[in-house]
Order: sequence, then C-alpha cells, then structure tokens
Amino acid sequence: MPDPVESRSPSNQPIDASALFHAAADLAANYLSQSADPKNPVTQNPPPSAIHQRVPLKLDGPATSVEDLLAQAKDLLEFSVRTTSPNFSNQLFSGFDPVAIVGEWLSAVMNASMYTYEVAPAMTLVEREVIARMGRAAGWDACEGLFTPGGSLANLMAMLMARQRALPTVKANGMGDARPVIFTSAESHYSVARAAAILGLGAQGVVDVPHDRHGRMRPDALAHEIAQARANGLLPMAVVATSGSTVFSAYDPIEAIADITEREGLWLHVDGAYGASALLSETRRELMRGIERADSLTWCIHKMLTVPLSASAILVRDPGLLHKCNAVHAEYLYHSDSEEQDLDTGEMSIQCGRRVDALKVWLAWKARGDAGMAAIVDRKFELASTMRRLVNERDRFELLADPDDVGGGCNTCFVYHAPSLDDLPADQRRKALDASTHVLRERVRLRGRVLTNYAPVYGVRAFRHVSANDRATEAELALILDEIEAVGESLDLAPLAGPQTLPVP
Ligand SMILES: Cc1ncc(COP(=O)(O)O)c(C=O)c1O
Repeated sequence: MPDPVESRSPSNQPIDASALFHAAADLAANYLSQSADPKNPVTQNPPPSAIHQRVPLKLDGPATSVEDLLAQAKDLLEFSVRTTSPNFSNQLFSGFDPVAIVGEWLSAVMNASMYTYEVAPAMTLVEREVIARMGRAAGWDACEGLFTPGGSLANLMAMLMARQRALPTVKANGMGDARPVIFTSAESHYSVARAAAILGLGAQGVVDVPHDRHGRMRPDALAHEIAQARANGLLPMAVVATSGSTVFSAYDPIEAIADITEREGLWLHVDGAYGASALLSETRRELMRGIERADSLTWCIHKMLTVPLSASAILVRDPGLLHKCNAVHAEYLYHSDSEEQDLDTGEMSIQCGRRVDALKVWLAWKARGDAGMAAIVDRKFELASTMRRLVNERDRFELLADPDDVGGGCNTCFVYHAPSLDDLPADQRRKALDASTHVLRERVRLRGRVLTNYAPVYGVRAFRHVSANDRATEAELALILDEIEAVGESLDLAPLAGPQTLPVP
C-alpha cells in the first residue's frame, strides 16, 4: 500500500488526498453517466438566485469540511449545463473522453509549466510529439508549434507571424507608416478581427471577402480585394482561410486560395480551429486539399475530438518564426548557458507560464489509435447528414444550407415555419420568421431537454445545430425537431410580424 498522501487545510484539518480523489472520481463518473443519459435534462436554466440559495458562494467564511466541499461541488455540477449530453448541440464541442479527462487531472497533479525543458521535461517531449503528429496530418514533414489557450490565441499568434514576415523590423521599430491588411471570409471567426485589433491594424486592417452560398470564401473576390487594397496604398499581409466555419461549418477552398497567396507573396493561415480534425479522416481530408501549402494552421482538438477544453494548437511550417516573434531574452528564466535551451518553448509563446494541454491529447490519441480518432470525425459528419435528412423530411422545417453538396460539414442551419405564420403576407412572414427563431429557441431552452443555438444566416435568425456529440443517435436529433415543433404549434407567433414583441418567458 502506498503511503497515504496527506496535506493540511489552512485550518489545519488533515485532508486525506487519496480519499478525496476517490470521492471526486466517483462524483465525476456519476455526473458523466447521468449526462450521457438522454432522458436527463441538459440544463436547469438556474437563475442566479437559485444558485446563491443552494450553494454558499461567499468566500469570507470559516474553513469547510471535505464532506461539505464535495456536497457543494455536487450542487455546482447539478447547476451546470450538461455539455457532455447527447442533447447538447449548442457549441462546437460536446461528448467526453474519460482518458482525456484523466490527462487533464494528471496535468494538474504534475503542475508543470511549459516554458523550460528543465521544469517540464516529459511534457515538452509529449507536446513536441503531438504537434509533430498534427503536422504530419497536414502533410508537413517538419513543423513547429505550441498548445495555446484556445483557438483565438492561436489565430493571434498566426497573425503575429504574418506581420513579422511582412514587416521584418516590426519588433524593433513598430509598424511606422505601414498599413497591413488581413483578408478573410465574411464568415470567419471574430477572433481574426480581434487579432487585427490587438496587433494595431485598426478596422481597415481586416477585409471581409464575400463568400458563396455555402459560406466558402470566393477566390475571385479575394483576388479583387487584394488588388483593391494595393491600389489604396495598403500592405496586404495575410489571408486567413477557414476550415470549418463557426456557423455554416464551411471549408474555404485552400488550394485556390494558396494559388493567390503564393502569387501575391502573402502569408496563408488556415483557421481550422473547428474543422481541421477532418484531416484525420480518409474520406473528409479532401475538404482541406492544399493545406500542405499553408504557412500556419490553428487546430483545436477539443472542438471536434471530445477532449476537455482547451486543447488548441498553432502549427507553423517555418521553424524559428514563433521564437523570432515572441522572444525578448528573459535571461532570468531562459538561461543562455543552459544546455537544453533549444528545447525550451517559453520564448515561442505569448504567455510566460503555460499549462500542459498536450498530455490529455496524447493519452486520448494513444488510447484510440489513429483509426479511433478518425472514427469520431466520420461519425460526426455522418450524424450531421442524418440531421439534414430529418430536417428535409419535415414539411415545416427548411434547410438553409446543405454542406453535403460540397463535401460535408457538421453544422445544420435551418428555420421552422410555424403554422401561425402561414397567413401572413410574404414580407411580414420573413420578419416574423426571423423573430420566431429567437422565441422558439428560448422556449425550447427553458424546457431544458435539448440545447441548440441560433445564428444569423442569410439575414434571418436560424437554428444552428452542431453535430458535436458522437454518442448522439437519430433519436436525439429528432428530439430537437420535436421540441421546436411542439412549441411552435402551441404558440401564435403572428404578432412577431408587427411592432409588438412576443414575451420570451
Ligand atoms: C472557426 C473558429 N476559429 C476560432 C475559434 C476560437 O476558438 P476558441 O473559442 O478556442 O478561442 C472558433 C470558436 O468557436 C471557431 O469556430
């Protein structure tokens, strides 16, 4: 028997860490198994008062016993949205992987910081291997990269590198009179615009390139916008193509875009935060044809591959560029006489201390093997096609985009035409349809059985269902439509065409 691990709380109560961990593991396993049962509600929609009433949130009291802490943690779990439920399709992630959760826990146990090899030797090599494996999936024999706190930060780092390439003296001299511009689809994630703002590019620093009816960037429009920017005295710096856009799950045509970026001498970044996992699937990697020609890639394993947040990486084909952008030679930490400094990653990142995110990915990948990873991707694309079939089968539902016409995608955007809107004239019906998505979605959300989001699509608010949970079945997909129908049939939504609004309870 190992020695019992004991520590002392501030009030000097002994805490048996082993007993605590076992109790917490039971709590977690029960929670996850309840969440996996589609009969359980996804959310209780608790108002803040309900949480305050049940859980003593204030931190200025006396010490709390371990039993009470666990009871309070259980309550907090109960009040949380069950994002691992097969009825959760609200965000781009759902489901869970027990091995990856263990990886997350073990990362906390070792509490390494990913800046120097000295303090994170094993994790530095684990991260290197995961990055190299992701790079190989993109067809890059050699690449560098890091795990970052989310896809947004990975996109920011890509834009930092693009700026460095376009303005090699930027670190020493700033941008001077240069007015660099990023080109990206109007459907790209808002983190691209935010990266531009952080980098001081201003509002003129991002050009939204028009897309086709499937939400994919139009290469002809891109070429036109670049020429226009040059004519206006701007400095084209980078193109951000999206692989798996947030609303449509659209894949921009990388090959055609690379033809343009190579001709124009621009950095090509692919934001595959959501969709780059398609690279692991034999049948779906075609969606990213041309990826081997990109300069950098954002890829969040936590979105499509069911490991806990966050597991986002920035990958770059030009080794040394991350270091060039971010190093400021902090000798106190990165000792120039260290024999292992080539393995230190701290001067490649924006942060100083950096958590271990690669371990959970490495463990999950090992446990599943390549085939298991690919199977999750394939299953999600398959479920999304099923969802679209179900939408098409019901008269009152209208599919607004069908990614299967262009190789597939995991989101389904649709509207529901409530019977009460039938007699409205066409212009009023559109207005009411737009508002009805919001009202229906809120009422469905408050029923708590399913959670699916909505977004603007072609000028109307539409349901955006994400095929995020590989454990979902056709029954759960149908339940979402049943819920919308049940609420939609019971409400008079016609007043939404007029000035008055329908109360959202
Ligand atoms: C296409 C795309 N890129 C980037 C991001 C940002 O990722 P994160 O939320 O991890 O910052 C998202 C998030 O949904 C996304 O959909």
